[in-house]
Amino acid sequence: MDKILEIKNLNVGFNIEDNFYYALNDINLSFEKGKIHAIAGESGCGKSVFINAILKLLPKNGIIKTGEILYKNKNLLELKEKEIRKIRGNSISLIPQDPFMSLNPLYTIENQLLEVPSIKNRENKINIIKGALEEVRIKNIDTVLKSYPHELSGGMKQRVIIAMALISKSDLILADEPTTALDVTVSNSILNLLIDLKNKGKTIILITHDLSIVSNYCDTTTIMYLGDIVETNSSDKLFKNPLHPYTKALLGALPSHRGKKLENIKGQISPITEIISGCKFHPRCNFANEKCILQKPKLINGIACHLYDK
Ligand SMILES: Nc1ncnc2c1ncn2[C@@H]1O[C@H](COP(=O)(O)OP(=O)(O)O)[C@@H](O)[C@H]1O
Ligand code: SF4
Ligand SMILES: [Mg+2]
Repeated sequence: MDKILEIKNLNVGFNIEDNFYYALNDINLSFEKGKIHAIAGESGCGKSVFINAILKLLPKNGIIKTGEILYKNKNLLELKEKEIRKIRGNSISLIPQDPFMSLNPLYTIENQLLEVPSIKNRENKINIIKGALEEVRIKNIDTVLKSYPHELSGGMKQRVIIAMALISKSDLILADEPTTALDVTVSNSILNLLIDLKNKGKTIILITHDLSIVSNYCDTTTIMYLGDIVETNSSDKLFKNPLHPYTKALLGALPSHRGKKLENIKGQISPITEIISGCKFHPRCNFANEKCILQKPKLINGIACHLYDK
C-alpha cells in the first residue's frame, strides 16, 4: 500500500479546569494514496480533534500527548510552527464545515485566490484561477471573482475552497463535514467534486456523522467512538458486513438501510470528562457483558470488540 499519511499511537486531549481529559486514544491508522477515506461517528466522537491535530490546529487547551503523524514519512509533530505553516494549504488542504472559516470576509474571492501561496510566483495567475473555478463547475466566474464571501451561497463558498485546494496543488485534503451545512442536491454536487479530486490522484479524508453518504463516495471507512477507533475496513466490506455493535447501530439508524425498520441507538455519547471503564460503548451496547465493563477491547484486524476476541 502506498501510504500518504500514517498515524501512530496518537493521544490527544484537553486541559479542562485543572484536569486533563483524552479526546483521542492511541489512534493508529494508515491512509492509502489516491483514495477517499471516511471517518464517521456521532458528534463528539473526536473527528474534528483528529483532523485538527494533523495540521496542529487544535484549540489552545488541546495537547498532543504522544504519537507520530507521518505525512510522506515526515513526522509533522516534529516540525516547527513555521514549517507546518508551509504544509498547511500547500501540501495539505482543509475544507472546513463552515467555509466562512477559511475565507476572509474583507477580501473579494479573486484577491483571496491570488493569495494562495503556490500561485504567487506563477504567470497567468488569473487563468489558473479561472481554470480552477471552471473545474469546480462555477458558471458565472467573473461575478464570483468580484464577490465577497457573504455574497455567495454556502455551496458556492465550498466550491471556492475546493478551487483553492486545486490551485494549491495539495495532495492531501482534509474535509471536515464539508456538506453538513448544505441541502441535499448541493451536498451531492460537492461530494462529486471530491470524487473529481480523487480522480486527479489526490487523497481525501472525509469526516462525517452521516453514514448514508459514505458508502457511495468513500473507499475505506473508519468508525470512531469517544476517541477510539472501533472498526475500520474497506467501505464495501464494512457496509456489507458490519461487525462492531456501534457500526451496526449507526447503520440501523439510517433511513435507507435495506428497507429495515429505523432503530435508535439508546443513550447518548458522553462528554470526555466522563470516564468510562472497559469498552466505552458498553453503557449503550445490547451485547455488553462483564468483560466489556472491566477490560478495554484492543483493535485487532480492524475491529475493537470483545465479541470477536479469540
Ligand atoms: N477546546 C476544547 N476543550 C475541551 N473539550 C473539547 C475542546 N474541543 C473539543 N472538545 C471535546 O472533544 C470531544 C471531541 O470533539 P470533536 O472532535 O469536535 O467531535 P466531533 O466528532 O463532533 O468532531 C468532544 O467531547 C468535545 O466536547
Ligand atoms: S466490547 Fe462489549 S460493550 Fe463493547 S461493543 Fe463489544 S460487546 Fe459491546
Ligand atoms: Mg466535528
